[in-house]
Amino acid sequence: MLFVWNDPEGNPPIEEQAPPRIEGALEDGWTDWVWYETPVHTNVREVIDNNVDMAHFFYVHKSFPTYFKNIFEGHVAAQHMNGLAREDARVPTADDSPQMRGNTSVAAYYGPSFMIDELTYHFDDMDLKTTLINCHYPVDENSFVLQYGIIVQVPEGLDNEAALTIAREQAGFVKAGFEQDVEIWKNKTRIDNPLLCEEDGPVYQLRRWYQQFYTDVADIAPEMVERFEFEIDTTKPVEMWRREVEENLALEGAGSPG
Ligand SMILES: [Fe+2]
Repeated sequence: MLFVWNDPEGNPPIEEQAPPRIEGALEDGWTDWVWYETPVHTNVREVIDNNVDMAHFFYVHKSFPTYFKNIFEGHVAAQHMNGLAREDARVPTADDSPQMRGNTSVAAYYGPSFMIDELTYHFDDMDLKTTLINCHYPVDENSFVLQYGIIVQVPEGLDNEAALTIAREQAGFVKAGFEQDVEIWKNKTRIDNPLLCEEDGPVYQLRRWYQQFYTDVADIAPEMVERFEFEIDTTKPVEMWRREVEENLALEGAGSPG
């Protein structure tokens, strides 16, 4: 992995801001990277905004957030999320293969464009640990190149071939998820002052954090780097979403021939 430091003030990289070690990247027992890149024609801030977007996990990624918290501090912006797989949106699998029930994720941006996501998928009979890198570089004001890669911890008791198959499947699953975001980014408009409700998340606070990377170091304001924590109360949306999922399942049941 090659990191490039861009500083219009000409200063060298800030040592404390070096990206941390990536879990699994240099360890035995993890797969090699499966890596993708794709150009996206919109402003790069659209990617960042997703960090606080709790609700899109339900509507876009078909995962049901039961816990969602953001913590920003210094140059790091983290998102802690637990999710359940939507029962009305499961990919049909063979009867005997384990179902994915949900995931636990700790994702953090280290600086404006490099995110490490430690993402564990919970299956009926095992947990699958993965590390996902989500990064990008801007090309101009209205385009960037999105790059993402995934490594998977080889599940114990599996031979290498079976583990690789799982890893590739999981990588494909993550890729499909990103493509859902990309499709939206391609079609939405950048808005500087959106009108928000509380469950939309701390978009303004996130953008304040993001602004530090477009500011001369001497002019960085305390509110751009101060610790900020915000947990979204998901009780109300979860209640509503449970009903929605149940209705969809009932409809599916009614529509199926058997
Ligand atoms: Fe997303």
